Amino acid sequence: MQDIEEIEKKLLSQVSTTNTPRDVLKSPDLKQLYGAIKSIADEQRSAYGKRINDLKLSLESSILKREADLDNAAVESIDVTAPWDINSVQVNLLPTNLGSQHPLTVEIENVADIFTRMGFEAIESRQIDDDYHMFGSLNFPENHPARDGYDTFRTEEGFIAPAHTSTMQNRILKAGKAKLESGGQIGVVALGRCFRNEDLDATHEHTFYQYEGVFMSNDANLGQMLGTLRSFFECYYGQSLKIKTQPAYFPFVEPGLEFAIEKPAALGGKPGEWLEMLGCGMIHPNVLLAAGIDPKKYRGFAWGGGIERLVMLKYGIEDIRHFESGKLQFLRKFA
Ligand code: DAH
Repeated sequence: MQDIEEIEKKLLSQVSTTNTPRDVLKSPDLKQLYGAIKSIADEQRSAYGKRINDLKLSLESSILKREADLDNAAVESIDVTAPWDINSVQVNLLPTNLGSQHPLTVEIENVADIFTRMGFEAIESRQIDDDYHMFGSLNFPENHPARDGYDTFRTEEGFIAPAHTSTMQNRILKAGKAKLESGGQIGVVALGRCFRNEDLDATHEHTFYQYEGVFMSNDANLGQMLGTLRSFFECYYGQSLKIKTQPAYFPFVEPGLEFAIEKPAALGGKPGEWLEMLGCGMIHPNVLLAAGIDPKKYRGFAWGGGIERLVMLKYGIEDIRHFESGKLQFLRKFA
């Protein structure tokens, strides 16, 4: 029993100094004490068992206390008004090892990286915009019902929180016009946050992310677009995929398509289970004219899709609302 006393002292002192007190329950010393039960003489076994049990209880209670102390200490060290301790003579930043990148940040970088390797330039989309970039430059006529498909948030001054990354098309085209006209191409992907005033459910969130691609040359065609998109999805999911398209209406493309992939078996898909991943098409002549580009000389294609949808399929996430929830339990799965 002398031994037990010593081991107890040692374990309790470990609990009071470590930042992961619960790990002490896995101590080999403790295992050894348990292991010894079988070899104790019959008449002493029950006393021994009780002693070990008491030790375990006292460990548990000091672990709980230590955990509470650590929690309190962590809370105390966070000053929400400044990233440093005002009493310290040294700059004392919050420990970064306690945090991790948000899964969407990681995946946005991943998407940007794939397109960059294909030769596209990746840029960030704007988070506040105007009616012209949201609708007018994209061939939505004034008062056209297609505008109602986008439940946009507006500021009192008339600015718009972009409901899609297509707001970047006119800017991308204008910025690339000179290059295009001197024999080059435009290849840009704009990634960023979008907002819609929607009823929320497992697949609809008011704040979400999209990636918008724009490609222009003097002979761009649908075949190139489908090849580009297929390569992207195959690279993102790391396997070959079946794809299909069906006609869809978007004012800024003609023809306009919805692009679907067959849900990969490795991600729980059954044959014939299609997932619509994005909208795409050949850029409408009016969109090119709005950017001062001659639609008789140059052609292009564009696409726009949701990042959350990509990521949800990749990781089997069942509810889009997890992303904006800030729940540590969710975020830690990606740490
Ligand atoms: N902006 C559309 C949306 O969010 C998606 C889209 C469709 C983008 C077709 C495109 C496109 O660039 O060509 O609903």
